[in-house]
Amino acid sequence: MLLNKKPLKDKLVSKRIRGEKWDYKQVNTMVKRMYVVTPWEVKGVVDYKDLIKQFGLKPLNEEILTRIKKYTGNLHYLLKRRIFFAHRDLDWLLNEYEKGNKFYLYTGRGPSGHVHLGHLVPWILTKWLQDNFDVKLYFQITDDEKFLFKDLDLEKVKSFAYDNILDIISLGFDPEKTFIFLDTEYGKTLYKEAIRVAKHITFSTAKAVFGFKNESNIGEIFFTSIQAVPAFLESVKEGRNVPCLIPLAVDQDPHFRVARDVLPKLGYYKPALIHSKFLPGLGKGGKMSSSNPETAIFTLDTPDQIEKKIRNAYDGGQPTLKEQREKGGDPAICPVYQYYFFLFEPDDRKIKEIYTECKAGERICGDCKQVLAARVKKFIAEHQKKREKAKNVIDKFMLRD
Ligand code: TYM
Repeated sequence: MLLNKKPLKDKLVSKRIRGEKWDYKQVNTMVKRMYVVTPWEVKGVVDYKDLIKQFGLKPLNEEILTRIKKYTGNLHYLLKRRIFFAHRDLDWLLNEYEKGNKFYLYTGRGPSGHVHLGHLVPWILTKWLQDNFDVKLYFQITDDEKFLFKDLDLEKVKSFAYDNILDIISLGFDPEKTFIFLDTEYGKTLYKEAIRVAKHITFSTAKAVFGFKNESNIGEIFFTSIQAVPAFLESVKEGRNVPCLIPLAVDQDPHFRVARDVLPKLGYYKPALIHSKFLPGLGKGGKMSSSNPETAIFTLDTPDQIEKKIRNAYDGGQPTLKEQREKGGDPAICPVYQYYFFLFEPDDRKIKEIYTECKAGERICGDCKQVLAARVKKFIAEHQKKREKAKNVIDKFMLRD
């Protein structure tokens, strides 16, 4: 949504909007836009069409989906429903694939806490891509990033890293083709490539893209060079250019905007990207985020916690049963509906049914939440069993210097 207000003066340091604190630069951006998306912060209600323009992305259109289907024979619902909604150079990547130049996948996790359901969205598509294109995957765990950007010590970040890796393995990635690493444990390999990248990024570019200030520590400023490395690591290892595809949610795009400028200068391909929308939190508006634990579902939550969070979720229903029957609900603003849509109702016919029943007032929020809670609890219980098993196979996946 675009607004038309006058910019605030620089001297105004911050303002509270819908209970959130925004600094004046963000408020001034909001003069045009009601939301902010950066790798470290997502605020407001994201207008994805507008974001495509703002970031210079390409929409994931019918034509490109048909091309993917040509190789895979089917399409994941995350693609069909445009939960993955945009890309960079996916058409080029498919051209290369057609010529026999197979790609590899790269994605990652910043281990600042436990994994929530939102994180699983890009990883589920990554797994589908690995299975359907039979390709390698590099999975970067940026423990350095979370140490540098958050108030966490290295030991804590490392323990989150190993905890999060259990979630990643539980999704079923191929142990023969999946390489997971912590930046601090794979530094010998990463560092010499990262400095090649860093030499091409000026402080002024880093400031413009990431909004660094004089108070930012110098590790933060350097960090994007480390996140760039896995985008050409396979080319370094193979001694020839190998195309790379990065599934991610759109908040991580700025890192790769920078990487895509630099990599050709080092003789490598620009990585292709495929961008997901954000699974919302269970509150009113905003993405699922670890900073709001009451409205996020973590993979370690107990059945009681899940039940309670979903019961208390904001919903698109009417205040009374009578009104719900008469006017119907509004799935467009309902996080409960979004949970079905993103993760818990893969059947296209059934998701349409949920939508139309809700609009027609035939579906009552309490029942809808109960069904969802049962599905989430079942999924998490199975996931937690897989996490236990994953403990025995971690070493099969890890890359260390
Ligand atoms: P991190 O740990 O913040 O997030 C991991 C992945 O989850 C995505 N994500 C979400 N997707 C859907 N809905 C949400 N609510 C949601 N919240 C987060 C993120 O976009 C990300 O894809 N610096 C990165 C780690 C990283 C990385 C990468 C990510 C290193 N290399 C390459 C993607 C691709 C980070 O802190 O991600």
